[in-house]
Amino acid sequence: ARKLIIAIDGPAAAGKGTLARRLAQALDLPYLDTGLLYRAVGRRMLDAGLDPENHPADDQARRITLADLERDDLRVPEIDRAASLVAAQQKVRAILVDTQRDFALAGGGVLDGRDIGTVIFPDAPVKLFITASPAARARRRWEQLAADPAAPDREAQIARVAAELQARDTADAGRAVAPLRAAEDAVHIDTDHMTAGEVLAEALRIVRERT
Ligand code: C5P
Repeated sequence: ARKLIIAIDGPAAAGKGTLARRLAQALDLPYLDTGLLYRAVGRRMLDAGLDPENHPADDQARRITLADLERDDLRVPEIDRAASLVAAQQKVRAILVDTQRDFALAGGGVLDGRDIGTVIFPDAPVKLFITASPAARARRRWEQLAADPAAPDREAQIARVAAELQARDTADAGRAVAPLRAAEDAVHIDTDHMTAGEVLAEALRIVRERT
């Protein structure tokens, strides 16, 4: 299974990243979080003072290397939005296709994103589509971000996170180029009532079945 490619897609905060990281480790495959590519482009746009809503980001996309993905300021709310905006630009996506394909060329890999099974690796032998209810996703994302788990306005904070996730998923699923959607041959896993360990076990079972 040296060159195995596993495509993992789904909406924001469904558990893709956790699964992809653990799966890569279990199978000894390289892991690429492709959302970081769009986040890095969004970061470069904001650093350059350019609004990703109405400025082309292809110059920034061309400059992205894997080293950009190491930046520690990519998982912040302003970048959630900037990434989603640059990700809707056709040219930006076209530029980043090769980066993603080249990553897995030599040794295979686990890649997670929105269009891995539909656009980047349509022939991947294993495609997983990871979902969870809006409420579960909001709670998990809030737990990752929360400064104070006992905050009195906890429920209001979670509701805000839910609204942000919903806005981003609507944009990602509704865009013209490479919208968020499951490949026809993807196996769906709803992670609502599953622990991370259970999701990994289910994914490993699917991998064994398909390879
Ligand atoms: O996965 P993550 O939330 O980090 O992705 C940030 C944004 O990047 C997403 O909201 C989406 O707009 C975009 N993205 C994409 N295609 C991918 C991965 C991420 O359009 N394969």
